[in-house]
Amino acid sequence: MTPRVRYSPLAQQFAEIDDIVDDIRTLVATGDFTLGKPVAEFEAMFAELLGVRYAIGVGSGTDALKLPLKALGLGPGDEVITAANTFYATAGAINEVGATPVFVDCDDSFGIDVERIEAAITPRTKALMPVHLTGDVSDMPRILEIAHRHGLPVVEDACQSLLGEIDGRKAGTFGIAAGFSMHPLKIINVWGDAGIVVTDDPDMDRKLRMLRNHGLRNRDEMEMFGYNTRLDSLLAVVGKHMVPRTADIVARRAAAAAYFDAGFAGIPQVRVPARNPRTRHVYLLYMIFAGDRDALLKHCLDAGIEAKVHYPIPLYRQEALKHLGHGPGDFPVTDRHSATTISFPVDQHLTRAEQDTIIDAVRAFYAGK
Ligand SMILES: Cc1ncc(COP(=O)(O)O)c(C=O)c1O
Repeated sequence: MTPRVRYSPLAQQFAEIDDIVDDIRTLVATGDFTLGKPVAEFEAMFAELLGVRYAIGVGSGTDALKLPLKALGLGPGDEVITAANTFYATAGAINEVGATPVFVDCDDSFGIDVERIEAAITPRTKALMPVHLTGDVSDMPRILEIAHRHGLPVVEDACQSLLGEIDGRKAGTFGIAAGFSMHPLKIINVWGDAGIVVTDDPDMDRKLRMLRNHGLRNRDEMEMFGYNTRLDSLLAVVGKHMVPRTADIVARRAAAAAYFDAGFAGIPQVRVPARNPRTRHVYLLYMIFAGDRDALLKHCLDAGIEAKVHYPIPLYRQEALKHLGHGPGDFPVTDRHSATTISFPVDQHLTRAEQDTIIDAVRAFYAGK
């Protein structure tokens, strides 16, 4: 059944692809498929978009988090502090370098609760990885202050917050490095999995370029063990078409979010999170608190509205992480978020009529309750 309101806008976003296909034809004629010219061009465009010195294309957002940790020399026995409510990949990237994720509970902006970070620091802590979940931005000035006090590097998980800002400075430009994702559900996306790391640090840049390509210093010399996680030239071609659209995409997402905020304002069972005047939220997710959430979710899905929950089972309660020894209730805010939040589509192609369908469905659900 075709949904009345779909979650993913990809079919609309790529409805007109002739110009992209033309560029792919040109690429195919060159055979320049790995670390080709389009990769360098896309990286330069992305670095300019963020206002950073270096951008390094990799195979996924997960690898865009893993590689900086590896470049920092992290491995077994090391701990990385991150937010308790995040996508699997944040913890996955930490785990892939052999380190251990240490969770800190969130606050109602859906980011890491900065007040709780210091209590989680131990002699084994080797990095902080805040997550700019939903597209809002964590309190990076305070996080950097804590990091400096303890001599810890910060790697930002900016996968959900391309062009997000706090105090006028962009997400991903605070730490030693930051990872972005171009997975199909992200702010800009390509035709498959892809990620990009940004940094201003020349040594980090050099290591990341080696790490994504088997640890090679040049064609014949391997300086370190690395990975095969290059951004494909073909995906870079698509990325080059997306970068110029980013500002408009983000502006449209924010306008759609403001429309929802106003539409939900009069419904007592719904709570829109407080909007932070210091941040520019780019609304990868439009996530709100809702009474009787599970029933509301079912009501929406039954009505053909593709609502979602981010995330229904917190990471710390996942089977894959049971060796960390956490029990129910260790992260009560995260538990509350997983039990009471709901996410609606909020992309650049969503129409006001579709938004009204969602708002009306929510209002109808609570009518008379
Ligand atoms: C917060 C967060 N971190 C990391 C990732 C990993 O990105 P990818 O799926 O491109 O590996 C994602 C998205 O998928 C994400 O939302």
